[in-house]
Amino acid sequence: MNCSPYIELKDISVKKGSSVILHRINLSINKNEFVGVIGPNGAGKSTLLNVIAGLERFEGTLWLFGEKESWTRDRKKRLKIGYLPQLFQIERRFPVNVLELVMTGVTGRIGLFHFPEKKYLYEAYDIMDTLRIRHLAKKPVGILSGGERQKALLARTLMQKPDMLLLDEPTANLDIAVQKEFFDLVTGIHKMGNVTILLVTHDFNLLPQAMERAILLSEGKVIFDGHTWDTLSGERLSKIFDINLETFKRNGKRFISYDG
Ligand SMILES: Nc1ncnc2c1ncn2[C@@H]1O[C@H](COP(=O)(O)OP(=O)(O)OP(=O)(O)O)[C@@H](O)[C@H]1O
Ligand SMILES: [Mg+2]
Repeated sequence: MNCSPYIELKDISVKKGSSVILHRINLSINKNEFVGVIGPNGAGKSTLLNVIAGLERFEGTLWLFGEKESWTRDRKKRLKIGYLPQLFQIERRFPVNVLELVMTGVTGRIGLFHFPEKKYLYEAYDIMDTLRIRHLAKKPVGILSGGERQKALLARTLMQKPDMLLLDEPTANLDIAVQKEFFDLVTGIHKMGNVTILLVTHDFNLLPQAMERAILLSEGKVIFDGHTWDTLSGERLSKIFDINLETFKRNGKRFISYDG
């Protein structure tokens, strides 16, 4: 029996010059968990995702998919990790359409110089159907709206067939309806099974509907790790964000808002 942890960070620290960006982070994530990561600007959320993605040098011990990892990832591991970076800008005139962008997600699976077979094209259309962007297939990616772009990038990531999704503020700058739609889509992908998700967000009110566990980071440390509603306690967040925040209930749902 394989008893090694699926994803485990043990005393992970990231330092840049004299600044400590992550300070001895300890974290275990089970296979197929859906975990939220919250915290103020500059808390170290993106850095944490970068450590897992293999984009950041660190001290400490990292286990991924049951194996001990150095800071870089080999091709096999990179393929298992679907990473949607924060604020991915695409130049307006970039001459690639949505279908072409989505198809690049398969490159890691088939190798760089292999022409994708037709079955991958069907896969791409299936994923675009799930994310409701088939109608955008021939549109240049540079002219997409923020929400359309995020969905196209998620579709590209899903083409990798990753075991893990790292989503860094995927709903930033999206209107409230598209935020909800995006969260619902990711929740749906999680429910389909076989994917572990770490999602960084500032959208507290959408968080609890999607996931049961949330981690609160502040100043490079894990301040709390538990059930989303315990993480989102008004008292706890007020302290960290240094503003009065209150949790209230309506129609069985709980919300966070400013107090006054
Ligand atoms: N190359 C660097 N040199 C020095 N400090 C850095 C460097 N890269 C990041 N930092 C600092 O590390 C801290 C954490 O950055 P990070 O991007 O992980 O924060 P975050 O929690 O994702 O914030 P946000 O909510 O704004 O996206 C910030 O204070 C940032 O300024
Ligand atoms: Mg960030």
